[in-house]
Amino acid sequence: MYKIAVLPCDGVGPEVVAEGLKVLEAAAARYEVKYEIVEYDIGGDRYLRTGEVLPPTVMEELAQCDAIYLGAVGHPDVAPGILEKGILLALRFGLDQYINLRPIRLYPGVHTPIKDKGPEDIDFIVVRENTEGLYVGMGGNMKKGTPDEVALQTAVYTRKGTERIIRYAYELTRKRGKDSKLTLVDKANVLTYGHDLWQRTYGHDLWQRTFREVGEEYPDIQQDHAFVDAACMWFVKNPEWFDVIVTCNMFGDIITDLGAMIQGGMGVAASGNINPDGVSMFEPIHGSAPKYTGKNVICPVAAICAVGMMMEYLGEEQAGQAIENAVIAALASGKLGDLSTRSGVKTTEAGDLIASLVE
Ligand code: IPM
Ligand code: MN
Repeated sequence: MYKIAVLPCDGVGPEVVAEGLKVLEAAAARYEVKYEIVEYDIGGDRYLRTGEVLPPTVMEELAQCDAIYLGAVGHPDVAPGILEKGILLALRFGLDQYINLRPIRLYPGVHTPIKDKGPEDIDFIVVRENTEGLYVGMGGNMKKGTPDEVALQTAVYTRKGTERIIRYAYELTRKRGKDSKLTLVDKANVLTYGHDLWQRTYGHDLWQRTFREVGEEYPDIQQDHAFVDAACMWFVKNPEWFDVIVTCNMFGDIITDLGAMIQGGMGVAASGNINPDGVSMFEPIHGSAPKYTGKNVICPVAAICAVGMMMEYLGEEQAGQAIENAVIAALASGKLGDLSTRSGVKTTEAGDLIASLVE
């Protein structure tokens, strides 16, 4: 019996989560997966009502669950950062979900804006470091609002944090068995972290060194490298070059929005925040899209794929595969339209169709 915490949160989050749960129910019935849902009222509305973001008692309960399913965070009446940091990042950091898995896969029948590229060209996965980098919230400011204002936002990288994400990415590349190629995406031509006088090295930063050192344990995996700006170019020009990408938190955030676009839009991109030894959390990568709230027009495929990832992660491979197959069949049928808010297909209709295909 799995205990699944559900945090629909803000904006369109509850709408897409409802469809994900519909599909979960269908898959669980078919493959006899027993689960229990514990829903939490977290998000902008609760914050505005009570001033609470993520109460410690909720955090303690979440830490006892088998998995967390999250909708979207962000509220138009709450200053940016409060909910993002107070809920989403607090969960990722607090539960040490150090891996953010973001598959970029163009399913057949889905439109990509990239000319002459098809499903055989766009099939890779980004392994985003999820607990360090620019996201740690270190820094400060002074003389705010004056012409002498100073703002500092520090990126933090540890050997432990870098090594564990890189090792995970090598393992995943091996397990995936596609091109056996792992690409490190960084900006080591500028972010050199200083000239190490003691080591007499220059430009060989922590990520590159760790990538090479850990890579010695994986002679079967080809080591590849791209600066982040060039990687954005290759995503558009030659997406078929990628198999698995490993990168830091900030670059991973940015390149996966681009990745979502080439795989058919924010409506299809799912992600998993993974702690292999703890509680993992699954969510669509899109935001709360406040202006579409309650309109029943958001494509729920990303949120449904997140449920598929959650099933696979829990070891329910058949249920996970069935969800992915149902998504593939629904997309190939053309019945989901262009997956945009103007597709004419309602959120609930898309969910019904996919749930029926699972059955
Ligand atoms: C994402 C989102 C978050 C991030 C925001 C909402 C904090 O953009 O999951 O990609 O930056 O990680
Ligand atoms: Mn993002």
